[in-house]
Amino acid sequence: MLSEHTIRVIKSTVPVLEVHGEAITRHFYETMFTAHPELLNIFNHANQKQGRQQAALANMVYTAALHIDNLSSILPAVRQVAHKHRSLGIVPEQYVIVGTYLLQAIKDVLGDAATDEIITAWGEAYNVIADAFIGIEQDMYTEAENQTGGWEGFRTFKVAKKVQESEIITSFYLVPDDGQPIASYEPGQYISIKIKPEAQSFTQIRQYSLSDTPGKPHYRISVKRERGVLERPDGVISTYLHDHIEEGSLVELSAPAGDFTLIADDKRPVVLLSGGVGLTPMISMLNTLVNLNENRTITFLHASPNGQSHAFRDYVDSLAKRNQGVKAYYCYTQPEDADRENEYFHKEGYIDAIWLRQVIDELDSTYYLCGPVSFMRAVYTELQALGVAADNIHYEFFGPKASLSPA
Ligand code: HEM
Repeated sequence: MLSEHTIRVIKSTVPVLEVHGEAITRHFYETMFTAHPELLNIFNHANQKQGRQQAALANMVYTAALHIDNLSSILPAVRQVAHKHRSLGIVPEQYVIVGTYLLQAIKDVLGDAATDEIITAWGEAYNVIADAFIGIEQDMYTEAENQTGGWEGFRTFKVAKKVQESEIITSFYLVPDDGQPIASYEPGQYISIKIKPEAQSFTQIRQYSLSDTPGKPHYRISVKRERGVLERPDGVISTYLHDHIEEGSLVELSAPAGDFTLIADDKRPVVLLSGGVGLTPMISMLNTLVNLNENRTITFLHASPNGQSHAFRDYVDSLAKRNQGVKAYYCYTQPEDADRENEYFHKEGYIDAIWLRQVIDELDSTYYLCGPVSFMRAVYTELQALGVAADNIHYEFFGPKASLSPA
């Protein structure tokens, strides 16, 4: 338990640390990776380069520090990160390493301003925060291992089938190499895949949403080939998967994780809204909702450059044709002539509030969003403009989670 005094010191110094947040976290990662290069096997190097992970970890520590006297108030955020950590295989010893280099970075960057009192208080607070994460993650490890077909850490899977779904998206059907059952999952969850491309010095771990219906003897992921734009290079792992992972190849997977799942006992209409490869969890959710046959209207809205890049279009077209309750509408920024003939193509350009109002029968629906950050921000803003309550909008980001709610 932290003393009143420590809590006061922490709360009064959070704003100072936030101001120096970037410098602290950059220094923290540099010194930590120099001393512990083995950690480069688990951190996403692309996120590091873009500074996204630096911001995510530091912001979470500051948020937790602000709520240090009532950590349960930020439990959903902690659980979301814990899912990611569990999927990556983060262990308690690594919290000691992170804590050591984070405190050192605070000292180094703040210099004399970081008094012994401040450093001691932050040391205590970090331990409380780390213990909260470790406890939740421990439960998740136990749960993942104990469920039918579950396992701990990474398990070898074989690519049973590789299917091109669009010009840029390819599905991989993955079956366990040991021939034993696999854990079920909730639609919307993801797996981590661990790969070591020959040309790389470190293993790389990436998360991909599961795109098929749970309950099958395989996991399916559908991966977009990430092409480089301007200074950003091609995605190392997505390119490797597309070019080098073939039927029969072996990969390492951790058990399904993630909290972006269908709300239990919800009977309202559902709107599944995706941009680009963000449609992968939506396909899993769509399949599951159709199978549940609950008489709910399911509106599937998808934005893509055009039909060439749009994966699973024929599949969703046929689901919509066969199920009265499923409504599909596609929005393309660069439709081709053939796309205009698709009966579910509905809009050229970007998704906006006027269009959403047209295609969604009942605004009082439950919304699930997934796509690139810019897409999510735009769609979230448009939904809010229509008066949709934030509580009814659930979303999953690519890469480090961020918040769409105004600060
Ligand atoms: C991801 C917070 C400790 C390794 C994250 C994210 C946050 C976070 C907010 C982003 C989640 C997302 O992607 O949605 C924290 C906090 C920690 C902590 C507050 C301490 C209290 C650790 C430790 C390790 C670790 C001890 C292992 C050395 C990672 C990795 C990712 C991650 C590898 C995925 C990021 C990527 O690959 O880009 N963490 N973390 N974290 N964390 Fe932690």
